[in-house]
Amino acid sequence: MMDFELNNGLKIPAIGLGTWKSAVNEVYEAVKHALKVGYRHIDCAFIYENEDEVGRALKESLTEKVISRESLWVTSKLWCNSFRSENVEAALDKTLKDLKLDYLDLYLIHWPVAFKTGVGFPQNKEEYENPGEKLFLSAWEGLEACVKKGKIKSIGVSNFGPSNLKELLDNCSVKPAVNQIERHPFLQQDELLNICKNHSIHVTAYSPLGSLDRPDFIKSEDEPILLDTPKIIEIAKELDASPAQVLLAWAVKCGTSVIPKSVNPSRIEENLNSLKVPLDDALCSQINELDKGFRFVNGSLFAGDHSPYSVSYLWE
Ligand code: A2P
Repeated sequence: MMDFELNNGLKIPAIGLGTWKSAVNEVYEAVKHALKVGYRHIDCAFIYENEDEVGRALKESLTEKVISRESLWVTSKLWCNSFRSENVEAALDKTLKDLKLDYLDLYLIHWPVAFKTGVGFPQNKEEYENPGEKLFLSAWEGLEACVKKGKIKSIGVSNFGPSNLKELLDNCSVKPAVNQIERHPFLQQDELLNICKNHSIHVTAYSPLGSLDRPDFIKSEDEPILLDTPKIIEIAKELDASPAQVLLAWAVKCGTSVIPKSVNPSRIEENLNSLKVPLDDALCSQINELDKGFRFVNGSLFAGDHSPYSVSYLWE
């Protein structure tokens, strides 16, 4: 499996199985199949509410020696209601218990927004912590402490735009190894990618296929369908590949690891086989022209009238 070296010397496999939106009754089979056919990277999060089933698949695959723990990369994410440094280890312990692991390869701050303890998804401003407290810095202290205890190998962030990333870089002892962000041809985020590159922060691309299976309440009307883009279909035909494979090959060519979600065995294999698609620089340049700054996950769940945060706080 191709991989990318992080700023701490560890290597993250280029393609991982995404598990956001994977139903509880499907994710176990998906993870087992993925590991059997060669995946070595599984992307998880507490808030996906399926870590217990993912953990069952991991444990069985380890017991059956389909994989070794050393060859496996597991990422999870700290939810926004456990940012006070004294709460971080308990949140991590819950995830480790569910995943049935004794350490994580990578633990990310899921979003740069803080909720009151115990709040899953805030319904009003009162359920958020005061943004002025910058609690993600407290979360980071907690993550650093868990690295020292051997419970996490690498730490990073997700959904951090340039200004929140700078705030963290100015106030951390351990630099983030990864920023996991939405990235695909419609949202290429060149500025953020350059900032990450300048600070040796690896980028993982989420929603690389356009996340068509998102719940309706986080979809906008008339949004474009990435997999139906004529240019992507044209290149796929030229390379005798599928549109999804072209999108994933492009992501890896850009130097990002990528975490397509699937619960379908043949699509799980198809996505891994994108590593064999011979996408050259000329074709990549054609895909680069598709950028239109379009977010499928625009953060409106955490920003706007019901929240003390704004969309610009997230992405600027
Ligand atoms: P499924 O799980 O049934 O395979 P993203 O990774 O951008 O969030 O996209 C996930 C969506 O893309 C899911 O609906 C998933 O469906 C679908 N998907 C995953 N792999 C492929 C593929 N190779 N071709 C078409 N759709 C895919």
